[in-house]
Amino acid sequence: MIIKRLAVIGVGLIGGSFAMALRRAGVVDRIIGVDTDADNLARSLSLGIVDEISDDALSGVSGADVVFISVPVCSIAAVVRNISPSLPAGCIVTDGGSVKSAVVSQCDALMPPGCRFVGGHPIAGTEHSGAAAAFPELFAGKRCVLTPGLTADRESVETVLRLWTAAGAVVCSMESGHHDRIFAEISHLPHAVAYTLVHAVGTADVEGENVLSYSAGGFRDFTRIASSDPVMWRDIALMNRDALLASIDGFSASLAELRRRIDNSDRAGLTEFFTTAKQFRDGIV
Ligand SMILES: NC(=O)c1ccc[n+]([C@@H]2O[C@H](COP(=O)([O-])OP(=O)(O)OC[C@H]3O[C@@H](n4cnc5c(N)ncnc54)[C@H](O)[C@@H]3O)[C@@H](O)[C@H]2O)c1
Repeated sequence: MIIKRLAVIGVGLIGGSFAMALRRAGVVDRIIGVDTDADNLARSLSLGIVDEISDDALSGVSGADVVFISVPVCSIAAVVRNISPSLPAGCIVTDGGSVKSAVVSQCDALMPPGCRFVGGHPIAGTEHSGAAAAFPELFAGKRCVLTPGLTADRESVETVLRLWTAAGAVVCSMESGHHDRIFAEISHLPHAVAYTLVHAVGTADVEGENVLSYSAGGFRDFTRIASSDPVMWRDIALMNRDALLASIDGFSASLAELRRRIDNSDRAGLTEFFTTAKQFRDGIV
């Protein structure tokens, strides 16, 4: 047993899956769920994801050894500000948010004396949301990045690392700004592009046809992630603004280069462009 009392604030896909994975691993005694969505919270109890529920975060965290916050990234600091008067001395607060630099600095500044904040980001997910979408294998074999800041000490980082390892994840650690620049490229840009593609095609007017009705495997595979929660992605775009803008600029330059080669009927250039991309893609699957 690693911890006696775990409070999960935001019992959705990530929070619910974390709770289920830890229970299955036998490393947590009692799990308290907190969520602003009453129906989702009741579902998390009826599904056995948590042992008890509270609609009040302040009382929900009382007596907790560890608090895991898995709400949209723009709300994480507000949650910490709300619960801080009730955090027991020695408590470890951690999160699963997809953006780290702003979250870690805001939460570090809000930690009461004796409490530690350890930023975290599991590199696992689906396009579905809520407790009903949670499953305990979500993190198995997937990376989890920890981004310890000013209040994280060796013991708190070790505890969070052991919890994610028990949940099946492969844990690494890095500086939060470095994390945000990497995930702007490999996660936030692809979501932005998928949403943009569906937006562009969905509003395209080709002689009055509903173009989307002709979509098949390729379009659907490529755009699966555009079915993700819009509020979650609004928050990620705003919280990782600078890094995402730089990634979008890089992507726009690549798209402009492709356009130039098509416009010039540059057969060799197009073959080289597509071959290079295919080699990168083949290398990751
Ligand atoms: N979905 C993914 O693929 C994925 C992957 C890695 C990290 N994340 C991160 O995990 C976090 C949660 O994402 P998710 O996919 O589990 O979302 P989700 O919508 O499935 O769950 C979030 C839950 O938080 C609740 N909530 C929202 N604001 C709240 C508040 N102020 N107090 C208490 N509860 C609140 C919602 O009612 C919801 O049940 C986000 O920060 C996201 O960036 C998501």
